[in-house]
Amino acid sequence: MLKLENIHTFYGPIEALKGISLEVHKGEIVSLIGSNGAGKSTSLMTISGVVAPAEGSIILNGATIFGLPPHEVVRMGISHVPEGRRIFPRLSVLENLEMGAFLGRGSFEEILGAVFELFPILKERSHQQGGTLSGGEQQMLAIGRALMSDPEVLLLDEPSLGLAPIMVTKIFRTIHEINSRGKTVLLVEQNARAALKLSHRGYVIESGAITLEGKSEDLLKNEKVKHAYLGE
Ligand SMILES: Nc1ncnc2c1ncn2[C@@H]1O[C@H](COP(=O)(O)OP(=O)(O)OP(=O)(O)O)[C@@H](O)[C@H]1O
Ligand SMILES: [Mg+2]
Repeated sequence: MLKLENIHTFYGPIEALKGISLEVHKGEIVSLIGSNGAGKSTSLMTISGVVAPAEGSIILNGATIFGLPPHEVVRMGISHVPEGRRIFPRLSVLENLEMGAFLGRGSFEEILGAVFELFPILKERSHQQGGTLSGGEQQMLAIGRALMSDPEVLLLDEPSLGLAPIMVTKIFRTIHEINSRGKTVLLVEQNARAALKLSHRGYVIESGAITLEGKSEDLLKNEKVKHAYLGE
């Protein structure tokens, strides 16, 4: 459904992605793991149009999305939850969710209901300022906001970053739930073990290039992955 081929992305003279190819099939959770600076966030930002790739192809359901601006990529059915959440701190929870629904696709009430069902705390706090939520709640809000455009594909950048273990568990459980409700997920994580346990397939990215790919269960058993990313 989503296919990247030979993607090259630069920041000025720095080549952050050196020919990335990856595929995400409908209904899958695919994880992208790698160390700091490997190019995980750049990969997601390239897909969502936040940074422009120099070369390669990105196809979603047979249509090219290469070079489209972010709002067009959202219109095509891809929603991006950026690293560091980036909610609007001065807007209420409800207003944050409304921002995510800017396309006006589907029934606002219906989608909002589904988001509140997934995250009851957001309903309880719907009139609270986003910036006063806890870190975990802000992550839920960021995911909820992305769901408001009713995407086919959700791009998640380090959703567990900086959260307490119990909240990490909760977020991973929620990603599973979102997937079982029909969303396809591309998940970037430094928590490689949890990501691989949750996902169907995975890719390892090192210095802007994919160095390993496979079924997550196989990657969990791979000696190189164990040593470099699982601390075994
Ligand atoms: N705005 C920028 N300008 C210049 N270089 C950048 C910029 N953003 C990222 N880079 C560089 O691109 C490379 C990939 O960065 P990226 O943020 O994609 O890594 P990452 O895998 O998401 O890392 P992390 O785990 O720390 O989030 C790094 O070498 C980084 O220094
Ligand atoms: Mg990153």
